[in-house]
Amino acid sequence: MDYSTESTLLYVENLSVAYGDKIVIKDINFVEKDVIREGDVTGQVIAVVGRSGRGKSTLFRALTGLVKPTTGKVLIADVATELENDAKEVQEGDIGFVDQKYTLFRNKTVYQALMFALRNKEMTKEAKHTQIMQYLADWGLEKAKDQYPNELSGGQRQRTAIIEQIFCSGHYMVLDEPFSGLDVGNIQDVKNAFDLITSSHEYNTVIYSTHDIELAVELADSIYVIGYPTIDGKQHDYGTIVKHIDMKELQLAWKDFGMDHIEVVKQIKAAMLSS
Ligand SMILES: Nc1ncnc2c1ncn2[C@@H]1O[C@H](COP(=O)(O)OP(=O)(O)OP(=O)(O)O)[C@@H](O)[C@H]1O
Ligand SMILES: [Mg+2]
Repeated sequence: MDYSTESTLLYVENLSVAYGDKIVIKDINFVEKDVIREGDVTGQVIAVVGRSGRGKSTLFRALTGLVKPTTGKVLIADVATELENDAKEVQEGDIGFVDQKYTLFRNKTVYQALMFALRNKEMTKEAKHTQIMQYLADWGLEKAKDQYPNELSGGQRQRTAIIEQIFCSGHYMVLDEPFSGLDVGNIQDVKNAFDLITSSHEYNTVIYSTHDIELAVELADSIYVIGYPTIDGKQHDYGTIVKHIDMKELQLAWKDFGMDHIEVVKQIKAAMLSS
């Protein structure tokens, strides 16, 4: 499938993060560019996989500006202003983040939380109401509208958190393990959400982590494996990118899952087991 790449959307250079004096991730370098396919709006889907504790969530906190890098930098295209290629250092709030626990406001109902997420949008109250009701219907949350977080199922809480981030973030969205603990129907909802997000604007970029390697290979155009590197025969105990798979280059992106995808799944699992 033909495609070309243009402006840089995300640029990570020499990134490391330490908690106290313990280095958790190090030497992280990657660039993701806007992908152009004729006659199609193609936002990016980027998956991050790796064994537990290798630093996926830590990487996400750095990508979203929630922790300050110990070294290096994270630049994003300042597409909020539609000024292409105007790179800026990421700041908290630039990138929507749905964390592993789907944290919601404890004292706000689903409806109130979504209304709050739209607070900075220049829309009438009626337009906001209409938009919220539309999303609640599309995401099967109509009945949960007036419920508080402690009255929601895991899947409902997670879908509310995703909609919240869609409402208040610009072009980037980071989701930490969006598929964990969901039933087969909810998984389909999240897949549909990815499609909706990435087909609504060229710059829209979804970055997610998962322990389901098949779901990474099925959905992502670019897959990073985070693991402990082995250098000169010695394994270190910080996370870094031990493998990158560009599904576009392999001509496997935007395609139904097939035998070639299964081969990639095997490669990724092997890379994870040794790191
Ligand atoms: N706030 C923190 N303070 C100190 N250490 C932390 C903190 N958060 C995470 N760590 C440590 O950093 C390492 C990486 O954790 P992280 O949560 O990034 O891993 P992960 O790849 O997301 O794991 P999982 O797949 O289990 O979610 C772990 O050793 C963890 O104990
Ligand atoms: Mg994690």
